[in-house]
Amino acid sequence: MRVLFKIGLFLLPLITFSLIPTPPVQGADSEAKALFEKRCSLCHPVSRPLSKNMSGDEWRQTVMRMKARAGDRISDEEAEIIINYLTEIRGK
Ligand code: HEC
Repeated sequence: MRVLFKIGLFLLPLITFSLIPTPPVQGADSEAKALFEKRCSLCHPVSRPLSKNMSGDEWRQTVMRMKARAGDRISDEEAEIIINYLTEIRGK
């Protein structure tokens, strides 16, 4: 009986935790959105990219073209985040 009790004690938290719905991972996405809105509204409204659907390659080309114009206002790392974000929400 003691053994069963111990197993129960061990399983209880596992069961409890598996019942709690895990919230969708939103942190990364909303950070990407904020970054996109900040960087891509420097020269024109964000409606400019948001009115388009492009493949991942096309977004890469466009973002890199914008990055070249923006100089050091958009870093390599930021460009990657924005490319992934746009491909996800405005891919084709
Ligand atoms: C340094 C200023 C500048 C920044 C920053 C900038 N853009 Fe632009 N963008 C422009 C200019 C100028 C044009 C119009 C000329 C052109 O299409 O190349 C344009 C046009 C566009 C177009 C329309 C191009 C087409 O092929 O129809 C898209 C889409 C776009 N930008 C997306 C972005 C995104 C995404 C970002 C953020 C990564 C961004 N822009 C940041 C200057 C900028």
